[in-house]
Amino acid sequence: MMEFLRRLKRALVSFRERAKMRREASRAFRYDRRQFMANAGALHLDRMSAARAEIVMGYHVLEKGLTMPHRRLGFGRGAVVHLVNLVDSFERRFGADDPQVTHAVAVLRAYRELHRDWPEPMPRLDAFLAARPDVPAAREPHVRRADFFAAKDAPFPEFAASRHVCRHFAGPVPRETVESAIALATTAPSACNRQHARVHVVDSPALRDRLFEMQGGTRGFGQDADKVLVVTSDLSAVRWSWERHDCYTNGGLFVMNLCYALHYHGVAHCILHWSVAPEADRAAHGLLGIPENEAIVQLIACGMPPEEFDVAASPRLAAADVLTWHGGGE
Ligand SMILES: Cc1cc2nc3c(=O)[nH]c(=O)nc-3n(C[C@H](O)[C@H](O)[C@H](O)COP(=O)(O)O)c2cc1C
Repeated sequence: MMEFLRRLKRALVSFRERAKMRREASRAFRYDRRQFMANAGALHLDRMSAARAEIVMGYHVLEKGLTMPHRRLGFGRGAVVHLVNLVDSFERRFGADDPQVTHAVAVLRAYRELHRDWPEPMPRLDAFLAARPDVPAAREPHVRRADFFAAKDAPFPEFAASRHVCRHFAGPVPRETVESAIALATTAPSACNRQHARVHVVDSPALRDRLFEMQGGTRGFGQDADKVLVVTSDLSAVRWSWERHDCYTNGGLFVMNLCYALHYHGVAHCILHWSVAPEADRAAHGLLGIPENEAIVQLIACGMPPEEFDVAASPRLAAADVLTWHGGGE
């Protein structure tokens, strides 16, 4: 009888906990949904920040194209016209004085210079560039491997500035190097030291290609990747509904640390989003046998770098553009 009552009490507590969690999760996800729909850039392109982000995405596509290992002339002509239209429209609405938008013009000029001898005319692009004669072509760095990784033991500001994704892969990353990089990445902080992050290493070209097909962001270089590190975050470590973003915040910190660790070990790597539809997420879990309690956070394609390669410039916002002081700022 006592045992029965004890079990009943436990079941009641668990039922109440579950009901509370469901109520709070609904509230939290409703809140997120409202905030998302009211602010997501794609739905609010009339805002300057959203229009700028659209332009950055547009020039990034071309910048990537300019630095790709298997670059073929004539790439991205649709993207060029799209970017020209975006910049025109931005400048009409918000003015021409924005460094990110100026960089878009510079990337377009670099594209045109590369296509100097292209047989088909590009009248729209030529007129656009002629109207902005003061903006020189962007320079995408061409680097030697030794220089790219030279800041390995330098003070942090230099080391951090030297890290860039690299989409050029020329050889296999030794297993021990992957293990050392992951050991270093585990120094990342996590909420209450719960250490949510896990890494699944994909070491088979067939699995890599299936995964990249679902992901969609590796055209022109994914086929050269030696390994894919699939960083996941264990939802079992999440305790209540207000922590709904924790698997991604903790997983993201781990990814950043892992990127630094890979750079430290001289491994070329490219972070890859995992912004996919639920079906693709489910399929990837099935493909790799990742348990459902692990949310996929990001992928990292990696390989050993060639002797020389191109890197996308990817210029950054100034600190003043990302910083807001609240209260004196003394
Ligand atoms: C969350 C995230 C997702 C990314 N996804 C992709 C991707 O799908 N394909 C790709 O080529 N690069 C991807 N990148 C790499 C970014 O384009 C790159 O980090 C950015 O342009 C800044 O350049 P840097 O890392 O060389 O400084 C991603 C980066 C992050 C942080």
